[in-house]
Amino acid sequence: MDNIWSKLKRPIFALAPMEDVTDTVFRRIIIGLGRPDLFFTEFTSVEGMLSPGAKEVKQRLKFSSIEHPLIAQIWGTDPQKFYLAAKEIESMEFDGIDLNMGCPVAKIVKQGACSALIKNPTLAREIYLATIEGAGKLPVSIKTRIGFEKVETEKWISFLLQLKPVALTVHGRTASWMSDLPSDWDEIKKAVELKNTISPSTVILGNGDVLNLKQGFDYIEKYGVDGCMIGRGIFKNPWLFNEAVQIKDISPIHKFDVLREHLEFFENTWKGSKNYDILKKYFKIYISNFDGANELRIKFMETHSVAEALTLWNSEKASMSMLTQTGK
Ligand SMILES: Cc1cc2nc3c(=O)[nH]c(=O)nc-3n(C[C@H](O)[C@H](O)[C@H](O)COP(=O)(O)O)c2cc1C
Repeated sequence: MDNIWSKLKRPIFALAPMEDVTDTVFRRIIIGLGRPDLFFTEFTSVEGMLSPGAKEVKQRLKFSSIEHPLIAQIWGTDPQKFYLAAKEIESMEFDGIDLNMGCPVAKIVKQGACSALIKNPTLAREIYLATIEGAGKLPVSIKTRIGFEKVETEKWISFLLQLKPVALTVHGRTASWMSDLPSDWDEIKKAVELKNTISPSTVILGNGDVLNLKQGFDYIEKYGVDGCMIGRGIFKNPWLFNEAVQIKDISPIHKFDVLREHLEFFENTWKGSKNYDILKKYFKIYISNFDGANELRIKFMETHSVAEALTLWNSEKASMSMLTQTGK
């Protein structure tokens, strides 16, 4: 069937969904630096989407047309709410819907959602089928881990593949590993072998610990996945998806200029409706790896608003330019 997954060139490099990171503002910043083949939204609660607080929850689904192809990721426990949420997303011009069956955060697992679905395949199936029904023409994919407490790739991934999802992102960790142990790519390879027999048309993205395109291409070849999803690597190198750029060649002042752009985008987009502290996650991306970076970052961490950060930015700009001239 003709959908975004069949249209994308191979191999596929996707930016991973990351809560409080990959919002519309950051995605647009990344487009300016080096765009991935595919974006995902932050995970969005179907419960929240249908609650009185829906307006705030749906900030996560805000996007601009340049962000296509973009997939909305949702999570929850009630199939009926997935159905309704999928119907709504279908009317919003996303390119697909992704079901989060991997988040290991305790308060979410306690509700029986996300990675807890690995322990409840019956509900996982109901959720998938309800979403498919609500999604209409939109493709529905799944992002998951290789087990809950122990590695259960064979059992869990086979189960999911029997549903014949259009795409499956496999993060090579169990939920109980959180992010403590390395992503097990041999298990991801096992998932690829399973798909070859159970559902050959399912697109498999491997995920976990890929830091650059070179490593991604190597892993794609070695482990047989159709593409890589990259998350935290973007913190070390926001130019990651740009084959023509080496991060070592990016000057501190250039990164500092991107910080300003990010601050302005954030303000223009959210107009005070989002907590300013969310922005602090990004400071390390833009202020690092030069003499005095730590001290400067601390100054930014102590700001309380975009206006304050922009004032600080203006007062530091001259010394940042000097830094570039002296080649430090
Ligand atoms: C700050 C942060 C937020 C995340 N939020 C989400 C999310 O909303 N949905 C999701 O499926 N995974 C989420 N993840 C997991 C990532 O998508 C990815 O699976 C994980 O970071 C492993 O990939 P990496 O080693 O390339 O970072 C998050 C990870 C981080 C670090």
